[in-house]
Amino acid sequence: MAKILAVGNAVLDRVIDVTCYPQENTESRCLTMSERLGGNAVNSLMVLAQMGHSVSWCGTLAQDSASHMLKQQLNAAQIDHSTAQSIKKGSTPISTILVAQDTGSRTISHFRHLPELDFEHFAQISIEDYDWLHFEGRNIDALIGMFNIATAFLTHQPISLEVEKERDGIDDCLASANIIMFSQHFALGRGYTEPDNFLRAMQALAPQAKLFCGWGNVGGFAMEEGHFYQVDANPDCVVVDTLGAGDVFNAGIIDALIRGHSTGEALELAVRLAEKKIAQHGINHLFSNDNKIRLTDLNKLTAHKVSVVEAKGKSIVLARVDDSVKAYVNNCPHANVPLNSMYKVEIDPRELTLKCSVHDAFFRVEDGVCVRGPCQNQALEAVAIIVDAQGQVFLA
Ligand code: FRU
Repeated sequence: MAKILAVGNAVLDRVIDVTCYPQENTESRCLTMSERLGGNAVNSLMVLAQMGHSVSWCGTLAQDSASHMLKQQLNAAQIDHSTAQSIKKGSTPISTILVAQDTGSRTISHFRHLPELDFEHFAQISIEDYDWLHFEGRNIDALIGMFNIATAFLTHQPISLEVEKERDGIDDCLASANIIMFSQHFALGRGYTEPDNFLRAMQALAPQAKLFCGWGNVGGFAMEEGHFYQVDANPDCVVVDTLGAGDVFNAGIIDALIRGHSTGEALELAVRLAEKKIAQHGINHLFSNDNKIRLTDLNKLTAHKVSVVEAKGKSIVLARVDDSVKAYVNNCPHANVPLNSMYKVEIDPRELTLKCSVHDAFFRVEDGVCVRGPCQNQALEAVAIIVDAQGQVFLA
C-alpha cells in the first residue's frame, strides 16, 4: 500500500439531515445533526485510509477550540497531520451543510477565515518520502511554487490535482500534473455541456496528464492521450447522501492507479465507489459490509408477511415483527419440505407464529419452535443475521 500526501483544506462539517430542502424563511425540525471531518482532500484521504494506505494531510490548522476537535477527528480517521501548518490568526473553516433525505442533495455554506498554506512551509516537507502527492486546486500562487518543487524533486511519484472551482491561474498548474480530476461544475463554468469536448479542450492544456471528470448521475469520463473513456452511472443506484461523492470518486482513481489499473479501469472503479458512497450516510465504514452477504432491506419486510430469500445455496425465511427480524432455514422439520411449498407463508398477528403451508405446523416467530402441529416442540433451524444502522439485513 502507498504513502500518500494530500495538500488542501481540513474543514469541520456541521451536517444537518432534513427530510426535504426547506423553503426560505420557514422554520422546520431537522432529523439529525452531526459534526464531521470534511474538506475535499481530507475526504479523499479518509477513503484511502480505509483502503489500507498510509495517508498524511498538509494544510493550515487554526488554534481555536474547533481545531482540537478537527485534530481528534483526523487522528480517529488515521490521517497524519504532523506536517500541517499551525496558524495563530484565524479560525477553523466550518461548513454548514443541509443534506436532504428525499433527493440526497447537499447544500453547503462554507465559513472560511484562515490563511492558506505557505509555500515556504510546504518547501520544508520531505516530499520524496511519499509515493503519491495530491493537491486541491486552490491557493494558486503558492500552488504553482509547490508544483515546481514537486516536479523538480520527484522522480517517479505521481502528482494529482483536483480542479473543482474556477480560480485565476489554475491553467498554469495543469501542465505539471500527471493526473487531473475535474468537477462537472468546473466544466459547466467553462461553458462545456459535453464531457468529451471539455476533456479534449483540457487535454490540449495538459497533454501529459490522465484526465478524469465525474458527471453527477450520468457517470464519469476520462481522457488519456486523446482517447476518451466513459462509464455510465448505475440507474438503480440508491441516493442517500451525495456529500463528498466527488472526493470519494477522486480517492477511487488514486487507489486504482496505485494498484496498477489502466485509466479506463480506474474510471470504472471510481464511479462504482462513488455510487457506494452515495448509497450511505457519510464516508466512514465504506467497506465494512463488503464481505457480508446482504439478504434484504428492513423496509422491504412487510409486517406479517414472510420473505423468502436465497443465500449461500440455501433458502431462508425472514420474518419481521415490529423492528425485529428472525431468519430460519426454509425447511419444515416435519417433512423436510420448504415451508412455502403449497402457498405463501404468513405470520399470525395474534399469536406471532408462522405456518408451514404443507401440513399446518405452527412455528413461533421468536424462536422457531413448533407450538402446534405434526412436529410439536421441534424447531426451525435459525440463521444468524445482522441488521446494520441503515436497516440492511446481512448474513452474520
Ligand atoms: C465536500 C466538501 C465538504 C466541505 C466542503 C468544502 O466535497 O469537501 O466536506 O465542507 O466540500 O468546500
